[in-house]
Amino acid sequence: MFLYSLVATMGLNGPGTTLLFVLLTILFIKWFHKPKQPWKSRLPPGPSALPILGNLFQVDRRATKKSLMKLGEQYGPVFTIWLGSCPAVVLCGHEAVTEALIERGHDFGGRYVLPVFKTLSNDYGIASSNGERWKQIRRFTLSTLKNFGMGRKSIEQRNQEEAQFLVTAIRNKKDTPFSPNLFLRFAVSNIICSLVFGDRFDYEDKRFLTLIEMISENMRVLSGPWIQMYNNFPTIMDFLPGPHKKLFQNVADLLNFIKQMIQSHKESLQKDFPRDYIDSFLIKMEEEEHKHDSEFIHMNLLWAIMDLFFAGTETTSTTLQWAIQILAKYPQVQEKIHGEIDEVVGSCRRPTVEDRAKMPYTDAVIHEVQRYIDLAPMGLPHAVTKDVEFRGYLIPEGTCVLPLLSSVLKGTSQWETPDKFNPNHFLDENGDFKQSKSFMPFSAGKRICLGESLARMELFLFLTTLLQNFVFKPVIDRKEIDISPVISGLADVPNDYEFYFISR
Ligand code: HEM
Repeated sequence: MFLYSLVATMGLNGPGTTLLFVLLTILFIKWFHKPKQPWKSRLPPGPSALPILGNLFQVDRRATKKSLMKLGEQYGPVFTIWLGSCPAVVLCGHEAVTEALIERGHDFGGRYVLPVFKTLSNDYGIASSNGERWKQIRRFTLSTLKNFGMGRKSIEQRNQEEAQFLVTAIRNKKDTPFSPNLFLRFAVSNIICSLVFGDRFDYEDKRFLTLIEMISENMRVLSGPWIQMYNNFPTIMDFLPGPHKKLFQNVADLLNFIKQMIQSHKESLQKDFPRDYIDSFLIKMEEEEHKHDSEFIHMNLLWAIMDLFFAGTETTSTTLQWAIQILAKYPQVQEKIHGEIDEVVGSCRRPTVEDRAKMPYTDAVIHEVQRYIDLAPMGLPHAVTKDVEFRGYLIPEGTCVLPLLSSVLKGTSQWETPDKFNPNHFLDENGDFKQSKSFMPFSAGKRICLGESLARMELFLFLTTLLQNFVFKPVIDRKEIDISPVISGLADVPNDYEFYFISR
């Protein structure tokens, strides 16, 4: 009866309701007939869970990280929650996260593939793969991207060039206020496009616009409550309409685009002159053509590109979007960066990566933006690669582990004012840059973000180039700019504001 009323509250009736009721009943019976799992009693403690629904009602789907932080205060730094009928061990605070991801990196370095990603990528690519597949594709991707300049001078030049395209696009808006988000996405995405597709897109290119809009929409949907429902009850949600269906459609369209890019690369491939990531992968595929268990297959190419394109576009551009809002809200911080740029770079040349070491305040602000905005509050879910004894508990192989990066980036014992934007967190008493072990926006250990060096370069070069050219001024009263997330889920999503970009 309870299940029936739950279905009714979801706004369904008629044959759909009956079908759903039958499905729920089957799931319920299955749950009660599960063999007793002896290890269950040795999982870390946590709130008691309902059959099938798990801890659905203890975790606020609109404020997941806050709910988990609260549970951490109640149950300690390592606790268990149930996502439907699957346990997830949550790691809370610097010590627990570091001990698991760094000191026990091998044991905690697996990926737990959430049902939504399972449906999408079926464990192909980098972010959703495990074992030998993950090892080979990640290693190949890192070394290939480095060959094409990631973390090197050549990609620095590409970044500088793209930053100028961005400045021109903004200047063309003259004195009209506008939201810079789309341009930021174009610019950041073009860096990954250069590495993967060997070329950039024009900001006027309609096809590029569609792709970027689909990626942004996917980020919002993935961070929203529907996807958390999907991850708890995939079988049921597959039958229901909702934003998750739009996500699947967008991904299908993005895959079609990537397939076309792969096809055109195949047609013009010169084996001795790989132009980009796709060429290099195609060459590797051919080398391993006769190896029956080769991981260099079409599906891994398709999904590795999707991972790079998605992770390489949304994350950095959203960070820049947030940085602009924060600097518009705190003009005194913006002024100090302007001062540092004028002193170290001037107005006649482009900012370079080398300048960073001479710009401690700017460096501290960028770090503080990343700490404060807490872009990926739970990172991506990990899995233990074998049965693991951890702090007296037994976590069975394959169990989902959620490293609550938020609890490290905002931990009360590590930061003076954890919930306030405060660049002094990264400055010592002499005004020199001070690193912190709790700075972990890219996560840590074996699964640490593959694009960290690229992202750090992009953030510095794009932001300093923008500030070399403009003052960011909000349209509304700066005190009304709300720099807290508008959606908080898998990722935190900022508000969207318009700004004047006043030429300096
Ligand atoms: C500000 C920018 C960025 C942030 C905050 C960020 C953050 C993260 C985080 C938290 C993870 C999960 C790590 C884990 O599982 O423990 C991750 C994974 C990943 N990131 Fe990034 N990222 C950023 C930019 C990029 C860029 C530019 C790229 C593209 C080159 C990229 C590619 C990836 C990939 C492929 C993974 C999956 C790694 C794996 O599973 O082995 N990221 N990132």
